[in-house]
Parts: sequence; C-alpha cells; structure tokens
Amino acid sequence: MHTIFVSWVVLGLLAACAGRQAEARAFFVFGDSLVDSGNNDYLATTARADSYPYGIDYPTHRPTGRFSNGLNIPDLISEQIGSEPTLPYLSPQLTGQNLLVGANFASAGIGILNDTGIQFLNIIRIYKQLEYFQQYQTRVSALVGPEQAQRLVNEALYLITLGGNDFVNNYYLLPFSARSRQFSLPDYVVYLISEYRKVLEVTIYVNDDFYKVYVNYVSVIVFVTANTNSMASSLAIFGVVMALGMLSCGAEARAFFVFGDSLVDNGNNNYLATSARADSPPYGIDYPTRRPTGRFSNGLTIPDYISQKLGAEPTLPYLSPQLTGQKLLVGANFASAGIGILNDTGVQFANIIRMPLQLLNFQQYQQRLSAQIGPQRTKQLVNQALVLLTVGGNDFVNNYYLVPFSARSRQFSLPDYVKYLISELRKILLVCPTSS
Ligand SMILES: *[C@@H]1O[C@H](CO)[C@@H](O)[C@H](O)[C@H]1NC(C)=O
Ligand SMILES: *[C@@H]1O[C@H](CO)[C@@H](O)[C@H](O)[C@H]1NC(C)=O
Repeated sequence: MHTIFVSWVVLGLLAACAGRQAEARAFFVFGDSLVDSGNNDYLATTARADSYPYGIDYPTHRPTGRFSNGLNIPDLISEQIGSEPTLPYLSPQLTGQNLLVGANFASAGIGILNDTGIQFLNIIRIYKQLEYFQQYQTRVSALVGPEQAQRLVNEALYLITLGGNDFVNNYYLLPFSARSRQFSLPDYVVYLISEYRKVLEVTIYVNDDFYKVYVNYVSVIVFVTANTNSMASSLAIFGVVMALGMLSCGAEARAFFVFGDSLVDNGNNNYLATSARADSPPYGIDYPTRRPTGRFSNGLTIPDYISQKLGAEPTLPYLSPQLTGQKLLVGANFASAGIGILNDTGVQFANIIRMPLQLLNFQQYQQRLSAQIGPQRTKQLVNQALVLLTVGGNDFVNNYYLVPFSARSRQFSLPDYVKYLISELRKILLVCPTSS
C-alpha cells in the first residue's frame, strides 16, 4: 500500500503506517499548511489552497482547502485509524456527532513564532488554535458531558506540524529580515525550539512522556508521538527541508529500508568526505549516548521511531562496517544528507550519495544478503520489507533557492519546477523497492 501526497507549498510525499490494533479515537490536528484541511478557506487571507492544481487527485478532483494534490497527512492518519477525515474547525459541518471524530485547527502560513506569516494577515496562529481547542472542548462537553469529553481528549491522537514557515515566511522571507538580523541561524533554531517547547507545554496535558520531540537542526523537524498506545503515533513534520516519504504497511518483524536525505540519514555521511555531516553538538544531545551519531537530530530520527514501532533495532547506515551478518536482515539505511530528487541538488556537498547511487547500493545490499541466505529468502525479505523514502526538500534549499538566480530558478518558474520535480520523483519511485 502506498499513497502519494504532494504539497505544492513544500512538496511532500508520505504514507502513514500504523499497526493493526486500531480503535476509534478522536484525532486533533494543529499546525500549518502541511496539515491544514481547509480552515483558511474560511478566512480572509491569501494563504488558501482554493484553486487549481490543488485537489486534482482528490476524489472530487477539486480544491478542498488542503495544500495538496489529493489527501494530506492527517487524512492518511485518519484512514489508518479507521475514521472520517477530521473537519476544519471553522467548517459549519463540525457539529453534533462530527465533533466526536476530532477537529483540525491547522492554518496555512503560521509558524511557531507569532510574527511568522504576518503577510498572510488573518490566519490562525498557534496560540489561537489552542484557544479554539479549549472552545472545542466546551462544545463537546455540552454535547456528551464533561467526563466523556475529558476521556475523548485524553485518549485522542494529536498531530502538530509547525516550524517550516518560521524559516521561509520569516527568517528567509526578505534579505536582512528582522529575525535574521537578530539571530544567527543556529541561535534562531535554538530560539525556535525554546518557543516550540512552550507551545507544547500549553498544548496538551503534558504528562511526562506525552511527547517526543525530534529536532533536525538542518531542516527542523518535530516528531510527536502520543503515548497512549503503541499504535498511536503522530508524525509531525516541519521544516524548510520538506520530506517526501513512502511507507508501506503491515506490522510484524520485517526488514526496513530507508532512502533519502538528512531527514532520515542515520550516519552514512560520517563515512564520506563531505561537509554535510552531523558529527558535532548540538546533534545527538538527546540521544541515549548524548553524542553525535551522524543523525541530523537532537536524538532519534523518524526511521528510529519507525524501527521502534516495528520492534526492531535501528537500521544501520549502509556504509557502517557493522552492517554484516545477521544485522543485514534488519534492513539498511541508504540515506545521505544533502541529496535531492535531482542529481544537481547538493552539488556543494561533493561526495554524498545521490538517489541513483542509493538504489545501486541497495542492489549491492541484495547481492550481499543473497550470498548469505540465498536468493529466494532475499527476495522474500525485500518484498515484505517496509520502505521509507524521504527526499525533495534539498531540491529547494540546496538548489532552486541556494543562490539568487540559481540555474534552476532561471530555467523554471516555481510551479513548473515542482512539476518537474514530481516527474523526476516518479521515475525514482518506479525503480524504488516497493512491497505489494
Ligand atoms: C504569542 O502570542 C500569544 C497570544 O497572543 C502570547 O501569549 C505569547 O506570549 C506570544 N509569544 C511571544 C513570544 O511573544
Ligand atoms: C542522474 O544520474 C543518474 C546516474 O548517474 C543517471 O542515470 C540519470 O539519468 C541522471 N538523471 C538526470 C535527470 O540527469
């Protein structure tokens, strides 16, 4: 099973995967365009996805307010938990029994900071979203009583996706923006994270391990997991560098293969002569060893969380000398920070492992495995494996927008560039391993 999700704001592709033990739970969504399912259509703002090509792959083939060609990440999660898509909080249809499904408070253009996206005027900033969430609870309480309302909220699944706009619609919005004059980039990231923690604190009953935060200092990603049961995982992706992911589903001991860029690189670049390495603090500060691991994260990465859900060890970087013997059966991580869909993305990083080479390494991996367990078992392992592909963000930040008047920006308008990227991505997907 795979699903394609393309957001024209940031270009993303992701299919969510959840265990089979799903039960009916409410689902609450907060954040920006990555997860806005239509709130902005009810607002006087330019940040609206109300015209072509938005919605072209949606069942109705019409714009829905989602910043996507079709479904968005919350829709995919709703599907996985067996629920209807959550309605935008501003939708007049969000009444009665519909309230019990949850609600989507997200609003395109917002960020962690109140001054992010000011050019969009009337959008629902995060603190306002949290206010609406209080209001929502009052309404549900009136409907089903305070006790049941409390239970619904306690057992719910939460998704928060926030932060990309703090770069593109704030820090980098203008040359010499107020925030870029105030902060160096590393200091800005630290500031954003501290502000983000405040948001999380007011968000939801923070019992200690309610949330896990995954911060990618290159792209700034936050990954939030609800702790209520093992299936409950909310993925929040936020970043300048946006992810394209593909995940096939079905839970049991399975191999896991990871392809892509810094969002999912578990350390391959540490074996390469490149500047795109996560080998010094603050990387790794929240990792169990408190040391940099090559992951572009304060702690674990999304592949690590997925491995945990699978009950497996983290996948080793393909270049790790430890990836031998039985470890090969767990899968492998082929990702390399800095790469993109295009071969000319990340050229400044010199020796990184671009997609064609990642796929070649995957062939080589299969040969090694085949020598160990035979061709038939290898084929079976690969067919049943889980595959995650996360690529595309660097085609913007480390290519199109890298320098003013970059070759790609002279060649393509932004919409045409997105189309071109998607067509090139489709080619990669054709040769990518897929299960089913
Ligand atoms: C952002 O706005 C909210 C509500 O309007 C306020 O409570 C909060 O302190 C503001 N944050 C900052 C950093 O100014
Ligand atoms: C990218 O590089 C690979 C291998 O080096 C090549 O096969 C492919 O055609 C290139 N793609 C484009 C669009 O140039």
